[in-house]
Amino acid sequence: MRIITFVFVFLISQMSLHAGEGMWLPLFLKQLNEAEMQSMGMKLTAEDIYSVNKGSLKDAIVHFGGFCTGEVISNQGLVLTNHHCGYGQIQSHSTLENNYLEDGFWAADKGKELSNPGLFVTFIVRIEDVSDAILKGTEGAANAKARQSIIDKNIDAAKKSMELGKFEDVLIRPFFEGNQYFMFTTQTFKDIRLVGAPPSSIGKFGADTDNWEWPRHTGDFALFRIYANKDNNPAEYSEDNIPYTPRHFLPVSLDGVAEDDFTMVFGFPGRTREYLPSFAVEQVVDVLNPAKIDIRTKALEIIDGAMREDAQVKIQYASKQARIANAWKKWIGESQGLQKTGALEKKRMLESEFLKRVNAKPEWKQKYGSLLNDFERLYKEVRPYALTRDYFNEIAGRNIELMRLVNALSRVAKADSMDEGLQGRVANYLENFYKDYRPEIDKKVFASLMEVYFNKVDGNYISDYAKERVEDAGKNYTDLAEKIYSKSIFTRGDELITMVKKDPDNAIKTIREDIAFQFGRGLSEAYYDSSEKEYTRINDELKELQRTYMKALMEVFPEQRFYPDANSTMRVTYGQVKGYEPRDGVRYQPVTYLDGVLEKYKPGDYEFDVPIKLRKLHAGKDYGQYADETGKVPVCFLGSNHTTGGNSGSPAIDAHGNLIGLNFDRVWEGTMSDLNYDASICRNIMVDVRYILFIVDKYAGATHLVEEMKLVRPKRFSKVNPKKGIPIPKEKLKLKKN
Ligand code: ARG
Ligand code: ASP
Repeated sequence: MRIITFVFVFLISQMSLHAGEGMWLPLFLKQLNEAEMQSMGMKLTAEDIYSVNKGSLKDAIVHFGGFCTGEVISNQGLVLTNHHCGYGQIQSHSTLENNYLEDGFWAADKGKELSNPGLFVTFIVRIEDVSDAILKGTEGAANAKARQSIIDKNIDAAKKSMELGKFEDVLIRPFFEGNQYFMFTTQTFKDIRLVGAPPSSIGKFGADTDNWEWPRHTGDFALFRIYANKDNNPAEYSEDNIPYTPRHFLPVSLDGVAEDDFTMVFGFPGRTREYLPSFAVEQVVDVLNPAKIDIRTKALEIIDGAMREDAQVKIQYASKQARIANAWKKWIGESQGLQKTGALEKKRMLESEFLKRVNAKPEWKQKYGSLLNDFERLYKEVRPYALTRDYFNEIAGRNIELMRLVNALSRVAKADSMDEGLQGRVANYLENFYKDYRPEIDKKVFASLMEVYFNKVDGNYISDYAKERVEDAGKNYTDLAEKIYSKSIFTRGDELITMVKKDPDNAIKTIREDIAFQFGRGLSEAYYDSSEKEYTRINDELKELQRTYMKALMEVFPEQRFYPDANSTMRVTYGQVKGYEPRDGVRYQPVTYLDGVLEKYKPGDYEFDVPIKLRKLHAGKDYGQYADETGKVPVCFLGSNHTTGGNSGSPAIDAHGNLIGLNFDRVWEGTMSDLNYDASICRNIMVDVRYILFIVDKYAGATHLVEEMKLVRPKRFSKVNPKKGIPIPKEKLKLKKN
C-alpha cells in the first residue's frame, strides 16, 4: 500500500510539474499559471495575455468558422490559419482552369482578395465566471432534468440582463461537467476574404501518409483578411468594407526556436474527456475503438484500391478518403498510446487513492462512496448500446454514401411538396453529391459494412424491411448490395436531379418508395426506437455521475490543479519545444528542415510531389532571411503543448508574445491526449513561421504580405527590450521582390 501511495504521489507531483498538460481558461492564468509559465521562461504577465481593460494577446486570436483557430498578424486584419481549415474556401474558388487547390492562390492586391459567403471569425471580448447566477436554485433540484431546467431559465435570464455592445453576442457554457458556468462576450466578423494559399503540394504535403506523423514537412497554412465597415465594426460583405484594424496583432519572430524554448498555444480546442473513470477508458480501448477501426479499415481498403486504379477516382474521393482516414488513424494511435503509457493503470491508481480518501471521511463517504461502483455498473450496462450506437453511426450514418444520402433526403421525403426554394436546395445538394459519387465503389463498401452490421447488431434493433431484404438475398451481402444499387434511383443521379427539377412531386414519391430509402430509413427508425433510447437513458445517468465525480475530484484532491475539458472555448496551453522517443532506441528531433521535403520528394506523386519552384529555391539555397543560423530553412517543430481538434490554426507564441509557429496536428503516439495526456509522448506539431514567410515571400513572391507584418528579432535584441523584442527597421529587412 505504501508503495502505491508513493507511486501515486509521484504521479501527482509529476502531473503538476509537467508543464504541458492542461488547457487553461485565460481569465485564471494569473491565479493558476503565471508563476509556472514565467519559471519556464515566459517574459509576459498574465495581463499581457488576457486583459479586459487593455489590448492583450487574446485580441489577436479568432475562432475561425467555428471549427478552427486563426490569429491576426497585421494591423490590416490579416489572419493566419491552416490550409486544411481554409480548404473548403480554397476549393470553392477553384475551377479546372483556376485550380487554387492544385496551384495555390495569391491575391496581388486587396482588390483581388476573394469573399467567402458563410465564413466568419469570432473574437472574445470578455470572459466571466457566472457560476453563481447560473447554478442558483439547483441545490435542491429533485433530479438532473429538474436541475437542467432551472439552469436553462437562469441562462435565459442572465442573457437578457446583459447590456451588450451593439456588435456583441453572448455565449454561456458549462465547464467541469456542469459544475461551473462561464460567459463569453464575443464579436463576430462576416466579411472574411481569402488572401493567399500555397499549392496542396506544400499546404498538404505528405497528405494522409504523413497525417498524424512526425517527422513532418507540411506547410499547412493559408491567409485570410477580416473586413469591417468604415467604423471598424462587423458588417455583412460589402465592396465598401475596409480591412479591419485589430486591438492587437501578433508580431512575427524571425529568430525561431530551440529545444526547451517556452511555447504557448492559444486557441479553441474542441473536445477532450480527461476525467473519465477507468471503466470508460477501458471500454474505448477494448470495445469501441476496435469496432470503429475495423469498420473504417474495411471501407478504406475498398476506397484506397479504387483510388489507386483510377486517377479520376483519386480526385473525386480525395477529401472523403481524407475524412475517413483522419479519425481512423487517430483512433489507432489513441488505443496504442493509452496502452503504452499505462493509462488504465494510472486511472485505477487514482481511483484507489480517491476511494481511500473518501472512505476516511464520513461526509465524503456518504456523498461519494458509491460513485465508482455506480460507474462500473453503468458502463457495463451501457456497453452493448454504446457499441450498437457506434455500429449504427459508422455504418448507417457515415461511411456508406448511399446511406448518407438517404439521411439527407429524409426531410424532403416527409414534405407534402417542394416549393421553389426547397427544390433549388435539393437540386444543389444532389449536384454536389453526384459530382464525386461512384456507385460501383460505394456498392462494395455497402456490401462489406452491412455484413458487419447484420452480424454484430442485435436483430431486435433492426427493421423487418431490412431483415427481409437480407433474407431475399440469401444472406449474401454482395447480392444484397447488387439488388439495392441496381434498383435504387439514387445510383442514377442525372435521372433523380432531372426529376427534382422538372417534377418535384413525383420526386418526393419516388424517394419515399425507393428501395435504398426504405432500407436506410428502416435501419434508422428501428435503431432510434430501440437501442438509442436505452443508450440515452443510461448516458444521462452517466453524465450526472460524471458531474458528481468531477466535483468530488476537485474536493478530494485539493492539492491538484484542475483544468476544464475542452469545449470549443478559448484556452491557453503552454509547454516547450521538445523531441520525444516514439519507441525504444529511437529519439525524434524537434525540428525538420526543407532538406527533408526534398528527401521525401516523389516526382508526380499525389502526396509527395514538390513544385519545381521550391526545388529550385532549395537547390540555389535561395532562402533570403528565412534560414536559421546553420543556413537551413526550418519547416515544422514539435512542442509539449496540450492541444486537440479545433486547435488547428492556433498560433504558437514565444516567451515575448511573438508568433513563432502555426499549430496543425499532433504526433500519432500521443493522440490519446484527448483522454489522458502524457507529457512523455504527447506532442503538438507546428509549422515554423519562417517556412510560412519563406513560402509567401520567396516562393509566391507575395512580398507585400510580409511587408504588412511586424517582423521582430527577440532573441537577438532581447537585451535591448526583453519584453517585446524590437521591430526590425524596414531598411534592414532583406525583402526581395521577385
Ligand atoms: N490530423 C490533423 C487534424 O486532425 C490534420 C487533418 C487534415 N489533414 C489530412 N490529411 N486529412 O485535423
Ligand atoms: N488537426 C487537428 C485540427 O484540425 C488538430 C489536432 O487534432 O491536433 O484541429
